[in-house]
Amino acid sequence: MLTRRSLAALAGATALALTMAAPAFAQDKIIIKFSHVVAPDTPKGKAAARFEELAELYTNGAVDIEVYPNSQLYKDKEEMEALQLGAVQMLAPSLAKFGPLGVREFEVFDLPFIFADYDALRKVTQGEVGAGLLAKLEDKGISGLAYWDNGFKIMSANSPLKSPDDFLGLKMRIQSSKVIEAYMNKLGAVPQVMAFSEVYQALQTGVVDGTENPPSNMYTQKMNEVQDHATVSNHGYLGYAVIVNKQFWDGLPEDVRVGLDKAMLEATEYANSIAKDDNDQALAAMEAAGTTEFYTLTDEERAAWMEALAPVNEEMAERIGAETIAAVEAAVSQ
Ligand code: LMR
Repeated sequence: MLTRRSLAALAGATALALTMAAPAFAQDKIIIKFSHVVAPDTPKGKAAARFEELAELYTNGAVDIEVYPNSQLYKDKEEMEALQLGAVQMLAPSLAKFGPLGVREFEVFDLPFIFADYDALRKVTQGEVGAGLLAKLEDKGISGLAYWDNGFKIMSANSPLKSPDDFLGLKMRIQSSKVIEAYMNKLGAVPQVMAFSEVYQALQTGVVDGTENPPSNMYTQKMNEVQDHATVSNHGYLGYAVIVNKQFWDGLPEDVRVGLDKAMLEATEYANSIAKDDNDQALAAMEAAGTTEFYTLTDEERAAWMEALAPVNEEMAERIGAETIAAVEAAVSQ
């Protein structure tokens, strides 16, 4: 549902949306605006650039992909609304940001410790369960094209975070996922939903004490400069669904769509081949920078985190759907 404020902010976008179909095809090139919130030098940023290059190649220049990184066009919540209105045609939001759209099942990806590693995750994103989740977007006027990896999250703050008790009372910035909210609450933290573009400043000024993200996001936003401690906990996964405005996508000429599908397939392979290395390198770079003290959980400490967060699965079953959780767990254990 659009608020009065967001409607006002998107007034120009609405006008554009109303005339979207006709001018897009009357012009020489079909313009596809691809908006995202992270830096160009991240797994998502690089994959978007690769898609741009391949899409223009495979459509023989019929399409012009305009990539807007770093929340230049829209912040988290606004970009979803802009996509539905047709003001942008393509996004790759984190899987943790689909709740406000009414597609709560995606929050299954946020359950703590649900994926042991990228292999386990891929059994979901590259299988039937992943396809079924993307199909749920159609009712919202959105088509899901692919899953792009980022990585496993670390926790950061200005105090050491070794045991679940260390989170007590800390204000932690989170994405909009209710699952993330639930596990932060379970740790005794005070979760605060905030757009990604505002996190650095909020950490710097003490509006929040800490946050979580894969190393690639932490490093490229320079969050390590304003966080004294970080724990490599790998307690949860952050990745993306690449999504398009369905009406726009379905209205594209067949040959153009074939070219774009091929480009998306290759950009996806690329994204998923670089994500782990990018995150490993970002972590190493932050360790070398020395502004944050990094700590890796021992097996025992990790077991204590898992035990503390275990009830979250059951508590969130009603919201996500017990059958979705079961389907993901079954896929992972295959
Ligand atoms: C965040 O808001 O922390 C992430 O979703 C940003 C992103 O797109 O990786």
